[in-house]
Amino acid sequence: MLLENILQQKNSKCFVFIYVIFFLVLSVCANAGNKSKKHKVPGYAVASAHPLATAAGIKVLASGGNAFDAAVAVSSVLAVVEPYSSGMGGGGLWLLYHAKSGKTIMVDGREKAPAQATRNMYLDKQGQLIKGLSINGVLSAGIPGQVAALVHIAKKYGKLPLSKSMQASIRLAENGFRIDPIYIRLANFRLKSLQNSTESKKILLDNGKVPAPGYLLRQRQLANTLRLISRQGHKGFYQGSVARKLVDAVRSAGGIWTLEDLKNYKIVERQPIVFQYRGIKVTSASLPSSGGIVLAEIFNMLEILSPAKQKKAHLIIEAMRFAYRDRARYLGDADFVKVAVKKLISKQYAKSLTQKINPSRATPSSSLTNSVSGSATTKQESRHTTHFSIIDNTGNRVAATLTINYPFGSGFIAKGTGILLNDEMDDFSSKPGSPNAYGLVGAEANAIAANKRPLSSMSPTFLETADRIAVLGTPGGSRIITMVMNAIFGFEQNLDAKQIVAKKRYHHQYLPDVVQYETGALTVQEIDSLQKKGHKLKQIQGGYGNMQIIIWDKQKKTIEAASDPRGIGAAKVSVNQ
Ligand code: DON
Repeated sequence: MLLENILQQKNSKCFVFIYVIFFLVLSVCANAGNKSKKHKVPGYAVASAHPLATAAGIKVLASGGNAFDAAVAVSSVLAVVEPYSSGMGGGGLWLLYHAKSGKTIMVDGREKAPAQATRNMYLDKQGQLIKGLSINGVLSAGIPGQVAALVHIAKKYGKLPLSKSMQASIRLAENGFRIDPIYIRLANFRLKSLQNSTESKKILLDNGKVPAPGYLLRQRQLANTLRLISRQGHKGFYQGSVARKLVDAVRSAGGIWTLEDLKNYKIVERQPIVFQYRGIKVTSASLPSSGGIVLAEIFNMLEILSPAKQKKAHLIIEAMRFAYRDRARYLGDADFVKVAVKKLISKQYAKSLTQKINPSRATPSSSLTNSVSGSATTKQESRHTTHFSIIDNTGNRVAATLTINYPFGSGFIAKGTGILLNDEMDDFSSKPGSPNAYGLVGAEANAIAANKRPLSSMSPTFLETADRIAVLGTPGGSRIITMVMNAIFGFEQNLDAKQIVAKKRYHHQYLPDVVQYETGALTVQEIDSLQKKGHKLKQIQGGYGNMQIIIWDKQKKTIEAASDPRGIGAAKVSVNQ
């Protein structure tokens, strides 16, 4: 009897035990099912600033590559077909979401100041800026980061060899492509600088003049360099014959690059900036870009201010003003200067800023405490530097903004390489308080130093709610950050991809103390009300920016992509069969 009881008890315990295990296994399976369901993207998509780059990305995805392989393909094609925007002689920020590990990483392929760079290298004996020195020619060029970034992304995250993912770019450089209207407009804008470089004159101009529409641009030397990179990776560019030619060309034109500068260049994987705004998780660029921090400050302030409709534009402008003041005052390469990032992006800090905002008056930028002295201009070109967005059908995502800075960068091509050098050094504050090409002023934090990265505004961004994910970004110098801000408003309002990229924009960057706006961004009543509050306004003719976005709606099981109607880009979606 006793034995029977024990046995029975044992049996019931055993039964409970088996039941619990069974239940656990079931729930783990169900969870795994949910997870894979969550990650099931209904297709793949690419949106980029150039149709040839989009086509190359789609081709790589169609032939078994993942989003990271496609990113290498798109980046390298853009380097060939948009020599006015980005290139192997420049740098960029690649924001990655790696679906398998669930990790978000920013690959920082930003240029670095050469080791011989000095704080006052662009000043004359009187301490005045030497006009154009940080924009034109070899002294304006930082050590490029794009090749290192692409090699790293391909190796660590891709599935294909560089010979495959760079194939389209090599072909387009070798056989040529027809130049677009932006090429012609920007070549006119930078004509002098291009004519000043023997190689640029030969390669990018037609008999020393801006080529005619439909001109077939072939870049054979660039094709050779790309081939070498695709075979040898990092070494193919940063060491050996290409490195020697780069340094020879730079030094014989009066520059300061050394072989060590190239050999020592390394990308850095950084943690992006992440913040929440009314149920939207925003992931954007961290230092050396100001993008994520400035966005976090703006949205933290807006969450607190919760602007009513009639005050909306005024409060948004004030939030931009205060955030850009902090950009000028505090931000620089965090490997060199201490930046209180945690504090700046905290809700508590935003609260202290909102207390300084007057709900019915514009705060003159010159009156802000801790203000950086100086003036700035609003003059800037806009449809150069480039962005692309990619999502693959396993949920990997890439948002990347790439640049050689000013249109056609420094204008200088290094002999025998086909590599057009950037002029990213202008993103430093060459003279605290004096504006750079985008009217941005900076302080000590962004002063020039050997091996330092100049402060950027590039803001490749992911937005996430429970239902939707967006992958986006744009060029536009100082206005990049507020364009992304505008896109976040659009996402919040549930606009579709096409509506978001077309949405009219306005911008304030602390200095100059002016609201810049596209026609239609502000209503007549809003303009009147802003002027009455003391804001100065300036309409930007022809618009600005070139945004590329992809939105995956998990609930609707749709994926859409859109390319900014202000540019010539292309967005393509391929839906799973
Ligand atoms: O890194 C930066 O912030 C700049 N070099 C980007 C330049 C740019 O977007 C030019 N676009 N109009």
